[in-house]
Amino acid sequence: MSKLCLVGIGPGSKEYLTFEAVTVVENSEILVGSKRALKLFSDVDSEKIELGAHNMGEVLSLAVSKACEGKSVSILSTGDPGFSGVLKPIKKLAGNLKFDVIPGISSVQICASKLQIPWDEANILTMHGKGISDSLITLLSNGKPTIILPNKTIEETVNYLFNHGIDPDRKVAVCENISYEDEKIIKTSLKKLLNEEFGYMCVLVVY
Ligand SMILES: C[S@@+](CC[C@H](N)C(=O)[O-])C[C@H]1O[C@@H](n2cnc3c(N)ncnc32)[C@H](O)[C@@H]1O
Repeated sequence: MSKLCLVGIGPGSKEYLTFEAVTVVENSEILVGSKRALKLFSDVDSEKIELGAHNMGEVLSLAVSKACEGKSVSILSTGDPGFSGVLKPIKKLAGNLKFDVIPGISSVQICASKLQIPWDEANILTMHGKGISDSLITLLSNGKPTIILPNKTIEETVNYLFNHGIDPDRKVAVCENISYEDEKIIKTSLKKLLNEEFGYMCVLVVY
């Protein structure tokens, strides 16, 4: 096992952690992750470093340098590290340092299971933090359900779809806070989505 591990922690509740994720985390001297991710391991006696959108580059660099110094470091990644997660930035930062990736259950997978969508037959798209691009509109016309991690909010994406001529009666679903006690799953039409309020952790499906 390398000194640096990117550990997928799944959608958020303990039930969806893998045994491998728990084993790796329990054997790490340093844990790096969001407040929510670190809370999952509050009983693990390691140094904890909080990662947020405001300090992402700085903290990931720190994690790499600690691993280069010989410390065992786990970077906790929501869902799977390889989908809109820490794998991409770490590949740029790691240089010659070898690291391991422990897969986790992605929010895309768990959304597909909640809505019973065979995800080998779906379009899968993350816009998270990247802005909304017109490729979304192209995808929506190929007859497959599209599973989307929104750029910012559901409202922003819905307004974009309206402004780009998508039928207001198009069937959609939103899975919010999946695996948490306040999980919410809504199946409705595009136009009715604007009557709902959603937080940050949502997956949108356009049928
Ligand atoms: C930085 S991306 C991380 C994606 C992650 N690597 C994955 O595989 O799911 C964060 C976004 O993932 C989605 N997400 C993560 N956990 C979620 C959950 N429990 N319920 C709903 N959406 C979730 C939300 O769209 C959130 O804004």
